Amino acid sequence: MVGTQILEKGGNAFDAMIATEMALAVAFPYAGNLGGGGFMVYRTEFGEIGALDFREKAPIEAYSTMFLSEDGEYISEKSKLGGLAVGVPGTIAGIFSVHEKFGTLPIEEVLSPVIELAEKGFVITEQQSERFKKFKEIIFETNGDHSIFTKNYLEGDTLRNIALANTFKRIAEYGRQEFYQGETGEKLVNYIKSKGGIITMDDLDAYETEWREPIIFNYKNLKIISMSPPSSGGICLAQILKSIEPYPINEYGHNSLKAIQLITEAERRSYADRSFYLGDPDFVDVPVDRLISDNYIQSRMEDFTFDNATSSQNLSYGSIPGYESEETTHYSIIDQFGNAIAVTTTLNAAYGSKLYAKELGFFLNNEMDDFSAKPGEPNMFGLIGGEANAIVPQKRMLSSMTPTIIEKDGALWMSVGTPGGSKIITSVMQTILNVYEFKMNMQEAVNAPRFHHQWLPDIVTFEPDVFSKELFIELERKGYTIEEKPSIMIGKVDGILVLEDGRLEGGAD
Ligand code: DON
Repeated sequence: MVGTQILEKGGNAFDAMIATEMALAVAFPYAGNLGGGGFMVYRTEFGEIGALDFREKAPIEAYSTMFLSEDGEYISEKSKLGGLAVGVPGTIAGIFSVHEKFGTLPIEEVLSPVIELAEKGFVITEQQSERFKKFKEIIFETNGDHSIFTKNYLEGDTLRNIALANTFKRIAEYGRQEFYQGETGEKLVNYIKSKGGIITMDDLDAYETEWREPIIFNYKNLKIISMSPPSSGGICLAQILKSIEPYPINEYGHNSLKAIQLITEAERRSYADRSFYLGDPDFVDVPVDRLISDNYIQSRMEDFTFDNATSSQNLSYGSIPGYESEETTHYSIIDQFGNAIAVTTTLNAAYGSKLYAKELGFFLNNEMDDFSAKPGEPNMFGLIGGEANAIVPQKRMLSSMTPTIIEKDGALWMSVGTPGGSKIITSVMQTILNVYEFKMNMQEAVNAPRFHHQWLPDIVTFEPDVFSKELFIELERKGYTIEEKPSIMIGKVDGILVLEDGRLEGGAD
């Protein structure tokens, strides 16, 4: 509603992005944030395309073995909870970069409904009250004292966050520097330090967003524009869709045996490459063009057959000649002018590191877990990483976030994305196929049951109770290991589709 209000005032999608990003920090602190980061892909009304990286960075004092014990064992909790888990936040720098380049309304005007939301509060839904209940203990334990997020809330209660409203007011008055150099920054650094973290004022001072070239590729007559490294999203989406492209997947049928096999095998090969090649492009040389080239993708799929599953154990990353070597949220906006944005933003896990800077009113991320803490050790999403994603001071941790904008026959066609950790890429990919190949509308495409595979572990995960037992038997016969968990979340997709008559159709999970 806050985003819509900004559009109604005559603001554009970029103004609405800023308001929405901040409103989510008030009303969806589970993932919406000032203490996290994200990515935005955009396409202006004039057809210009680009991407903004406001991903968190490793602190200057970070080092590659910081999550290992003295005998080299990975201590998984250290990268997930508390001070050391926190990466240098990028979101406030992100909204100011957007404002500087594309904003049309003054920042005070854009932030004013957000300040009002934080001051007047929002009404808690049933799901939110359950969520608060579920996390209040761990938030209390991690912080060592009480705050508004350690209380009991019932559905219908109003939650006000005055500390956050005050933080917004200072940011509206003093701008970006309030967070990275000013009072807010100092309070933040002191708080993180008191919880065992290593982020200093130098880290905040050194933080910069990066405007990046998005990943652009064709799937049939679609031109797909998605996030480039340090997200793996765009490259993996390109690899998977281009692996599928030569096959008549619409003839196989949605979620049919053959469609699932084809998609799974494409995913397996892509996630194996992800684990070896991908990392922050400011630190490692990612062979982007070669990874998404037709020849390379064709060679990766050469040993694929419908007869049986490839084994992840026997599959490695592809060879590139000459190469050296569960909480997030997404929103899409298309405005009255034709500007489109897709933004995925995150604290990583639910409420991030669980550290809540109560004087400032916001949670801090645990994005450091997205680094590969030790080669071969899975992170919270079961993703295995290599040297390319090792911890280095000031480096950005590899992401799977896949905010994506699509053109069809040269015109804007879709803005789409989702949370879901490693499942983001495969959820976005299935949603695109659902509309394009299986002729669903936007909402049907979002609703349709999804499945997921990521190379390792060598299993295919399905949404529960919607795929047939016969299908599972056939897949198992061919060598696939099936997992059907009772409450598994495979993405929570949000998208906008531009219909042929120019109307916009939203789809929300
Ligand atoms: O950047 C990433 O890939 C992860 N930090 C995203 C985490 C996420 O989607 C959790 N949501 N379910």
